[in-house]
Amino acid sequence: MSDSTARLDLDNGSVELDVYQSTVGQPGIDIRKLRATTGHVTFDPGFGNTASAHSAITYIDGAAGILLHRGYRIEEVASKSSFLEVAYLLLYGTLPNVGELLTWESEINAQTLLNEEMRSFFDAFPRRAHPMAVLSSATNAISTFYDVYRRPMREDEIDAGARTLIAKMPTIAAWAYKKSIGEPYVYPDPDLGYVENFLRMTFSNPISDEPIDPVKVKAMNMLLILHADHEMNCSTATVRGVGSSRANMFTSVAAGMGALWGPLHGGANQAVIDQLQSIHDDPDATIPGMIARAKDRNDDFRLMGFGHRVYSNYDPRARVIEKFAQEVLDSMDQADPLLDIARELEAAALADPYFAERNLYPNVDYYSGILFRALGFPLRMFTVLFTLGRLPGWIAHWMEMNLDSETKIMRPRQIYIGEAERPYPAIEDR
Ligand code: ACO
Repeated sequence: MSDSTARLDLDNGSVELDVYQSTVGQPGIDIRKLRATTGHVTFDPGFGNTASAHSAITYIDGAAGILLHRGYRIEEVASKSSFLEVAYLLLYGTLPNVGELLTWESEINAQTLLNEEMRSFFDAFPRRAHPMAVLSSATNAISTFYDVYRRPMREDEIDAGARTLIAKMPTIAAWAYKKSIGEPYVYPDPDLGYVENFLRMTFSNPISDEPIDPVKVKAMNMLLILHADHEMNCSTATVRGVGSSRANMFTSVAAGMGALWGPLHGGANQAVIDQLQSIHDDPDATIPGMIARAKDRNDDFRLMGFGHRVYSNYDPRARVIEKFAQEVLDSMDQADPLLDIARELEAAALADPYFAERNLYPNVDYYSGILFRALGFPLRMFTVLFTLGRLPGWIAHWMEMNLDSETKIMRPRQIYIGEAERPYPAIEDR
């Protein structure tokens, strides 16, 4: 696979390393033999410079602000596909034809029901439980109803696991929400589409059947697609890392949810709204004040929804969401003061040399919360919605990793800076 080499000169000699070309984008230097031949390891905190696998799922050109899923532009995918179509694309590498899509949709729809014993599982959580904690626990819990431990690597069972997770996640997410507001769980309706079902299970209850608004369905579909995959981000790397130990798909995905929950990753959508809300409510929290705090090296405050490990340009997903947030609010004849504040804050940040010099632009989380709010979701559900969207990406990576003969258990090295060996003192001498 390698068609060129790179030479690394060290004090104790030099080493030739294979260089792998990518279809588009950056080539990679194969350092696998480096430690064995030179005794050196590489130092790369956060793996910002390390490719951990060959992957054919998603390509990002961070400088140009381009995102491709299986070669298709995100803007086109988001405007022309359904979420289940995108899930199929990510998992199987091609867009489904009409027949394949119908089969895929009906297979997913047929499995949306949770085992009835899961009810008591939801009941056992305290009302105040964060829905992300419920979601990841439930993802592990539903695995106990299936055969995932016996033959987790058989191809047909991997496919079955993928369908099970994608089918049941909206029901789990909606039930986690119902639990948090003390309303009865709503069962899925097999005659409804994926997004319609989720909205109904979330917003209807036995005495009030919330009408399904096509504008909301379209917005939700688009939001899920925009979150569907983003190559080796923190949560996907976690899913791959856990899966590399041959852990089953369910528990690998549940671990990814833990990573996504963090405010520097998917939890940022909730943190963005907190910041915008404080500018709105608190006279002391001004836009210039926030920009000044974000720039202050002695303050760990960050402008949430700004910056990205991969994009040194505007995140293309943020552009689509910002436009759509306005459209949805207009169609509902609503206004959201936080959208105006977000735009003002964005303009102030982009005009500031600190942000320009560091290429800090809005990321996907900057405007997504405003759209989630417009759709009627409370703050605590935002990261759950991101999770629903990201699920097919995680599964696609888990599957790709399992089929890849180069996969090895994830086990980084370290540069040890602790004590060298020393004598153990008796307790009375310490
Ligand atoms: N506000 C202020 N300064 C920032 C921000 C921000 N949001 N993001 C980065 N910086 C600064 C850093 O302080 C650093 O400055 P320095 O060079 O003077 O030390 C420089 O920009 C580079 O930042 P790093 O933290 O090294 O970049 P990294 O790639 O490790 O982090 C991250 C990326 C975590 C997304 C970061 O930009 C951040 O914390 N953003 C806010 C949280 C957020 O929006 N997360 C969602 C990301 S998208 C997603 O996960 C779905």
